[in-house]
Amino acid sequence: MELSPRPTLFDFHGNFKARPDDILIATYPKAGTTWVSYILDLLYFGQTCPERQASIPIHERVPFLEISTSTQPKGKHCADQLPTTPRLIKTHLPVQFVPKSFWEQNCRIVYVARNAKDNAVSFFHFGQMSNGQPEPGEWSTFLEDFMKGKVQFGSWYDHVNGWWEKKQMYSKIHYMFYEDLIEDTGRELDQLCSFLGLSPSLEEKERVAIGSKFDNMKQNNMTNYSTVHTMNQKVSPFMRKGIVGDWKTHFTVSQNEEFDKDYKQKMTNPTLKFRTEV
Ligand code: A3P
Repeated sequence: MELSPRPTLFDFHGNFKARPDDILIATYPKAGTTWVSYILDLLYFGQTCPERQASIPIHERVPFLEISTSTQPKGKHCADQLPTTPRLIKTHLPVQFVPKSFWEQNCRIVYVARNAKDNAVSFFHFGQMSNGQPEPGEWSTFLEDFMKGKVQFGSWYDHVNGWWEKKQMYSKIHYMFYEDLIEDTGRELDQLCSFLGLSPSLEEKERVAIGSKFDNMKQNNMTNYSTVHTMNQKVSPFMRKGIVGDWKTHFTVSQNEEFDKDYKQKMTNPTLKFRTEV
């Protein structure tokens, strides 16, 4: 039997040119990327570009830098074409793969992290509903793959730690937690604005907080991914539950014990702490 040729490894040298006022939104998949992207979009363009709010889906306003499929324009191309300033750009890359011009240009970066258990659950459901993802298989298999880092964008543990360590050296990273946003969106908005050097009025802040509420984003066709046909929202909606602690309805007692044991071994930095309930 003739075997099909194997793929070969190749060196990839990206050439993305960041601009000093670009804002990079970096996350491990399913950590709240769309939420924070929309908050930033509202903060910068909510008042000035009403037509943008009504007609351009969030994934076009905030392009996904590294996406490269045969069915849609490449993320780099979309980012290059963005007409607005600042450009808001999203990435799921582990810190070591971020195009170096973001560092050279001293860009602001907003990193969002979510506790591993809820992150894994959300990733699992996303895998089921999105044809752009590898088949996640059964929950138990997916959870094992997640723990081994054998999922898209690799290890959650390396991702959150890598970005955390980078933040100690590069002051323009604002490291946020999904759980904090759920707990007190207003407080998190204030901190985000102070990092970005923005001082919106109370009314503006209120407008952002309301627009970015889970239920409102779920109803909004520009933020709920209903325009993306590779996603089957009947299998699982993109705006699924939006809570902290849904892992409790997925993990068995023994999965939870094994997960916690493995977690302790991998998450050794005492300064990086996650909450699995709020
Ligand atoms: P769940 O699957 O747990 O519901 P990403 O944008 O990185 O793909 O993350 C998607 C996750 O963020 C989903 O989690 C989604 O429901 C949640 N999410 C999106 N917008 C949210 C909001 N406004 N409030 C709370 N959670 C939100």
